[in-house]
Order: sequence, then C-alpha cells, then structure tokens
Amino acid sequence: MKTFLRILAGLALLLVIGVAAFAAYAWRSEIDPVDPPAQAGLDPALVARGSDLAAIGNCNVCHTAPGGETFAGGLGIPTPFGTIYSTNITPDPETGIGRWSEAAFLRSMREGVDREGRHLYPAFPYDHYTLVTDEDNRALYAFLMSRKPVRAQAPENELPFPLNMRMLLAGWKALYFREGAFQPDPNRSAEWNRGRYLTEGLSHCGACHTPRNRFGAEQRELHLAGAEVENWTAYAINAASPAPIPWNAESLAFYLRHGWHQEHGVSRGPMAPVTANLGSVPEEDARAIATYLADLMGEPNQERQTRAEAARAAIREEGGAPRPVQAGASGSGIGEAIYVSACEGCHDGRRPLPFGGLNLHLSTAVNGPNPQNIINVVLFGLPGAKGEPSAMMPAYRGVLNEDQLVALLDYMRERFSDLPAWTDTRERVAQTMGGERKVTVYRMDGTTQAPPESSMRTTPWP
Ligand code: HEC
Ligand code: HEC
Ligand code: HEC
Repeated sequence: MKTFLRILAGLALLLVIGVAAFAAYAWRSEIDPVDPPAQAGLDPALVARGSDLAAIGNCNVCHTAPGGETFAGGLGIPTPFGTIYSTNITPDPETGIGRWSEAAFLRSMREGVDREGRHLYPAFPYDHYTLVTDEDNRALYAFLMSRKPVRAQAPENELPFPLNMRMLLAGWKALYFREGAFQPDPNRSAEWNRGRYLTEGLSHCGACHTPRNRFGAEQRELHLAGAEVENWTAYAINAASPAPIPWNAESLAFYLRHGWHQEHGVSRGPMAPVTANLGSVPEEDARAIATYLADLMGEPNQERQTRAEAARAAIREEGGAPRPVQAGASGSGIGEAIYVSACEGCHDGRRPLPFGGLNLHLSTAVNGPNPQNIINVVLFGLPGAKGEPSAMMPAYRGVLNEDQLVALLDYMRERFSDLPAWTDTRERVAQTMGGERKVTVYRMDGTTQAPPESSMRTTPWP
C-alpha cells in the first residue's frame, strides 16, 4: 500500500513538473500597449503599399462579417473543431488593435501570438504569414492603422474543452509550425521568387488548396494537391491539376486578375474574393504568382496533352449545334433531357465568357474528383455583382429534385469527361439539398474587379 502511494505521489509530482514545463514553454510575454499612432503621421506611400498587401493577403475576406464594416471582424470561420471568430483589426483602442505596437503586430504575423502573449488559432493563416518580411509587415501595419476605428467585439469562439485552451496551441505549433521569414532561392529569377513568396506566404493559397491532417495542419507532402473548403472543392493546382486544358503562366495570370479565362471558366465560391482582390493589385504580383504556379504544375505530360486535344476536338465536332433530345425516359435520358433543355442554350460555348457559359468539355468542375462545385452552382446559381453586369447563372434549387439532379450530373460526367463516374453523387446531392452540407454563396464580383464589399458574402443556406 505504502509503495503504491509513493508511486502515485511520484506520478503526481511528474505530472506537475510536466505541466509547469509545458506552461513555461508555451508562455509568451505581453508586449506593452501603446497609444494608437496618429493617422496624419502615417507615410502615405507605406499605407498604399500596405493596402495592396492586405488585398493579396485577403484580410478583408475573413475579417469582415456579413453586413459588418470591413476589417471589424466577427465572421465565424467554420472548422472541423468548432467555430472560430475573426477579430477586429481596425485601430479601435478597446475592441481592435489600436493599442498594438508595430512589434506586437509583427509578432502576431510571424509567430501567431497576440499582443497579450496568447497563442492564436491557425484559422488565422500565420503558418503562411510567417514568411512575410518585416518590411511588408510594416506596410500592412501602417495600412491597418490608417483605417477608420470601428467599435466591435468579436463573439467568443465556439470550441469544446480542451480545444478552447490556447496554451495547447504551443504543442500544435511545435509539431506543425515552421516559423521564419521567406528565404529567396538565389538560383531562380526574381519573378519566380516573388511568386513563391506571395503564393506560399501572404496569399496563403495552400490554406484552401492543400489537404489538412486530422489536427488541421496542412500536409506538406500533398502541397496544393486539392482540398475541400466550406463545402467547395479547391482543385489541385500542382502537377495533379484536373483542368482539361492544362494551365500555363499566361492563362493563370489572366484568371487570377480577371476571375475567369476563356478556356477555364469563372472563379467561383471562396475563390471569387481571391481573384477579386488580385484584380486590384499591381499586375506584376498576379503575374509572379502565375509564373511560380505554372512552374509547380510543370509541363503537361503526354496523357494530359491528349486529353486537351480530345476536349478541343469534341468542341469542334459539336460546333455548338443543338443536340436532338433522346426519346424515352431511361436514367441517362432524363439527365440529357434536362441538360439540353435547361443548360445547353447557355453552355454551348457560343457566347464569350465571362457572361456566356463555358463549353463544359473545358470545365475543371466536370473533370474534378467530385461533383460538389457543380451541385453548388446548379442549386444556388451564380449571383451577379451588386449593380454591375457580371457572370450570371440562375439557381435551380426548388426546380430540380434529387433524382433529376443526380441524373443530370451523371449525364454531364459521361458526356464531358472520359474519367470514371463519380461514386458519391447522390450522397452529396442529398446532403447539400438537405442543408447538412452548408454552402456559402459568393457573388461574382471577382469577374468585374469590383472592390469586394462584405455584402458579397450572402448568408449560408439554409
Ligand atoms: C482565413 C481567414 C483569415 C485571414 C485571411 C486573415 N485572418 Fe486575421 N485572423 C483570423 C482569425 C480567425 C483570427 C482569430 C484567431 C484566434 O482567435 O486565435 C485572426 C486574428 C488576427 C489577428 C490577432 C488579432 C487579435 O486581436 O488577437 C491579427 C493581428 C490579424 N488576424 C491580422 C490579419 C491580417 C493583417 C490579415 C491579412 C494579411 C489577416 N489577419 C487575414 C482569420 C483570418
Ligand atoms: C479561401 C479559399 C481559397 C484560397 C485562399 C485560394 N483558393 Fe483557389 N480555389 C478555391 C476554390 C474553392 C476553387 C474552385 C472554384 C471554382 O469552382 O471555380 C479554386 C480554384 C482555383 C483555380 C482554378 C482551378 C481550375 O482548374 O479550375 C486556380 C488556378 C486557383 N484556385 C489558384 C489559386 C491561387 C494561385 C491562390 C492563391 C493566390 C488561391 N487559389 C487561393 C479556393 C481558394
Ligand atoms: C442563363 C445562362 C445559363 C444557364 C441557363 C445555365 N448556366 Fe451554367 N453558367 C452560366 C455562366 C455565365 C457561367 C459562368 C461562366 C462559366 O464558367 O461557364 C456558368 C457556369 C457554370 C458551371 C461552371 C463551369 C466551369 O467549370 O467554369 C457549370 C458546371 C454550370 N454552369 C452548369 C450548368 C448547368 C448544369 C445548367 C443547367 C441546369 C446551367 N449551367 C445553366 C450561365 C448559365
């Protein structure tokens, strides 16, 4: 009995030492509060650079709640662990970052720690922002401090115990986080290095395009290999890209700046605000990202070139002529009848993009790993930008039932792709129609280069 008690006491002591050691390891000091810098004293050139950098970093997308003021935070970011709310990054001294010194801001970007020393959740993509240079952080800081202070308190995160303990994030960081500013590769061109710096850093393309492990960390060995985000599929943008016509630096640069490309279609869902932002920054930056990404994708192999030729040949052969509808009501006949009557008129490829529909032989969506994005587009349509002409497609929610949508998708896959049928079509259709899969619908502001306002994000349905 005595030995047992002694062992127990020993274990308890070890536990206390362990917890204390971890707490010491996890502890970060507070950085003293300052008075918000006088806005009149900010260098206008620095502020202007910071404005472009903020657009490249999509700060507005996450830090603006529906109907709320830009950068005032409060948007709920759904994660598999619970909802994490973005914070107010306007210079309001009480509820924003008005009392943060430049050093405190820099530390948050580089290390994911707030002014008071608390670890931040990686829903704030500091695993990418850590690459941002001190110089660029200074410009971002000046830009944020030049904004109108807005009083707005972010709601409490909705995370279960123990995930709500920020100290544990020190363990996550030890496993998955590599801190450090960007190191250029001297053997590559300045443009390639600029592209890599932006793609891997401020633009955080991997936050959506790289699959995560069960602890929410990006899987390095599957870099940009495609993932799902907010129930949209962010396709592979490495050598595994499923685009029927292989991307190249030219087409990527055009798509990133304009939100569409004649041989690839429009940027939709969570990608729409990314291209809208990139449409507002210096063209060299979008071009640099495109150069780096095209290099990652590599030259298309023989199989992809053959597929691209087959897609172009199919379009030439059809010549945009309307197809006769098959009589009879077999499974695939229903899909074809719906396609020809409801879709083909816009999607025969005879009207130029972005306001005309893509010939779907060219569609990544039809050639993707699952039909989710087509389900989203067909059910919720592509709402146009407010008050401007933009890409538009009607919503078919309430028009098509589950069986009809499944038949339509099966038909589209069969006709416009030589890849095997999807196996999860019915499940995804049912879950999306039933609201189990919540889809955020984005207005198509990306195609018109309108400055993205918070109104672009409509409430998730239902
Ligand atoms: C993908 C969404 C997302 C993007 C993009 C994003 N943030 Fe955040 N950010 C968050 C979330 C969520 C938090 C809160 C994290 C937490 O509570 O631990 C946060 C927290 C912060 C904080 C800490 C503020 C505080 O009061 O603790 C700063 C500073 C910040 N973000 C700045 C930026 C800047 C600058 C950009 C653009 C370069 C940016 N964020 C882009 C989601 C995002
Ligand atoms: C917030 C999430 C998110 C971020 C950040 C993001 N993407 Fe995307 N991206 C998506 C989604 C979702 C799609 C699919 C959209 C669609 O169906 O049009 C997509 C589509 C694309 C496509 C089209 C692929 C194809 O074959 O059709 C390219 C290219 C692309 N993204 C590049 C980028 C680059 C480069 C960056 C960084 C500058 C980036 N993305 C950042 C979510 C994101
Ligand atoms: C009023 C015209 C119109 C009708 C009708 C229409 N669409 Fe569209 N659709 C568009 C436009 C415009 C776009 C955006 C440009 C693009 O990418 O094709 C689009 C985009 C799409 C895309 C994304 C293509 C890609 O990969 O970029 C798919 C898939 C799609 N539509 C499927 C359908 C289906 C299925 C139907 C019938 C149920 C349909 N559309 C009916 C106009 C239309």
